[in-house]
Amino acid sequence: MDKRLLLMMLLAVVPASGFAAGGGAPLDSANVNVADTAALQRGAAYYVNNCLGCHSLEYVRYNRLADDLGLTEDQVTENLMYTGERIHDTMTVAMPADDSSVWFGRTPPDLSLVARSRGEDWIYTFLKSFYVDPSKPTGANNTVLVGASMPHVLWEQQGLQRAIFHEEIDEAGNPHTEFEGFELVSAGSMSPEAFDRMIRDIVTFLSYAGEPMQLERQRLGVKVLLFLLVFFVLAFLLKKEIWKDVK
Ligand code: HEC
Repeated sequence: MDKRLLLMMLLAVVPASGFAAGGGAPLDSANVNVADTAALQRGAAYYVNNCLGCHSLEYVRYNRLADDLGLTEDQVTENLMYTGERIHDTMTVAMPADDSSVWFGRTPPDLSLVARSRGEDWIYTFLKSFYVDPSKPTGANNTVLVGASMPHVLWEQQGLQRAIFHEEIDEAGNPHTEFEGFELVSAGSMSPEAFDRMIRDIVTFLSYAGEPMQLERQRLGVKVLLFLLVFFVLAFLLKKEIWKDVK
């Protein structure tokens, strides 16, 4: 085959996901493990307490959470359900969408699939990147989603941080602002490490919510590999048996 054609075909199948996120600020690696049941349980609790007030998870049912997170239905009812839902309901929001779009300028989106549309690293970095900006109606801005209409809901835990920017002139001679980093201006109730863990747990939970089947797939994958291993040994013994008299 023509070498150039081969190269083009190869380039066509190289995953483009690395470039898909776009939008400026470099992302930190979330590095989550959805098989970590304890992290999923903590993440679910953080989510219900801090996020479900605005963001539904339309595709997640409470009873499914019980199964997947290793909890009893009673534990789910007591710890994760506050507003009189039933165990077979999906995780919806009590606030009417019309009200929230008036309050925030945008209806907070359903987050069932956000880990797949935005990616885990994006959400992780987004949640850490709110900074004080008095010019905004919420008093906060975000380096990952500039002009975000979401308030800095975890400010009590994280504390307040300032973003440091500086002016830079690019090759064409045009000035633009470059983001340098954050500086904590008032400490939160959590240490930066503890806050990081909390965010990671929330991202773990959202990753699970985006694809609950991935837990099952991982467990199944291990079984399939074990089966193949046993099957290989059997097939090998069988082959030796059949061919032993053939010279
Ligand atoms: C007070 C309401 C409110 C709360 C509470 C809230 N958010 Fe938001 N969130 C919003 C709004 C409004 C937006 C839309 C922002 C925009 O597009 O400008 C948003 C956007 C987002 C997005 C980006 C979605 C996308 O793809 O554009 C993510 C991710 C997110 N929120 C995660 C969370 C998490 C996790 C929590 C809990 C720690 C949380 N939010 C709590 C109001 C809220």
